[in-house]
Amino acid sequence: MDHLISPSLLAADFGNLEKEVIMINKSQADWLHLDIMDGVFVPNISFGFPVIEHVKKIASKPLDVHLMIIDPDRFLSRFRDAGASILTVQYEACIHLQRTVTEIRNMGMKAGVALNPHTPVSHLKNTLPFIDMVLIMTVNPGFGGQSFIPESYNKIAELRNTIDKSGYNVMIEVDGGIDTKNAAKLIESGVNVLVAGNAVFGSKDPVDTIRKLKNLVY
Ligand code: DX5
Ligand code: ZN
Repeated sequence: MDHLISPSLLAADFGNLEKEVIMINKSQADWLHLDIMDGVFVPNISFGFPVIEHVKKIASKPLDVHLMIIDPDRFLSRFRDAGASILTVQYEACIHLQRTVTEIRNMGMKAGVALNPHTPVSHLKNTLPFIDMVLIMTVNPGFGGQSFIPESYNKIAELRNTIDKSGYNVMIEVDGGIDTKNAAKLIESGVNVLVAGNAVFGSKDPVDTIRKLKNLVY
């Protein structure tokens, strides 16, 4: 499969949200990544349901919602109703992960699980039958604009190998410090979905940066 691009709205100009989403609509982006932070699981607060609902009305791309919140089970149906197509929970925030991801799928969304940099990929071996995507955090979650952690390449290679051996159809997404410099190596390592915040919204020509990330032509 061709790799997918999911620009992270966290780096957008929130004073011109509508314009930013329309720009993404016109670009080669495949999904739109929305980061939800609760100030407890991560040391930051982002935005909630009213913003997601508003974005959903404008966006033509599927919403790829990344929950950095504790006890996400309380809100799964709210995120579905707000317009999420892909819903990713953090491994470290879920006590009954299999139940959580099964509920997400039963609600008609794709289920993803995100791993913090310190969490081994082996912890997900028994969860692969129940999910559609693993998100490898390539920074510690909480903020945009951080530096990519190079050790992530080893995790990606190990996860790619585990998924291929398992025979399950599970995508690998990476998130944090992704740009036009490391994108090609990440795709070669077996990544299916690139999230990019500052590299896209902080660039002079975001549509062209998305085109570069999509086509890996520099
Ligand atoms: C970090 C978020 C990321 C963030 C990425 O906690 O999960 O999605 O927006 O931003 P960049 O690409 O700027 O590192
Ligand atoms: Zn994210």
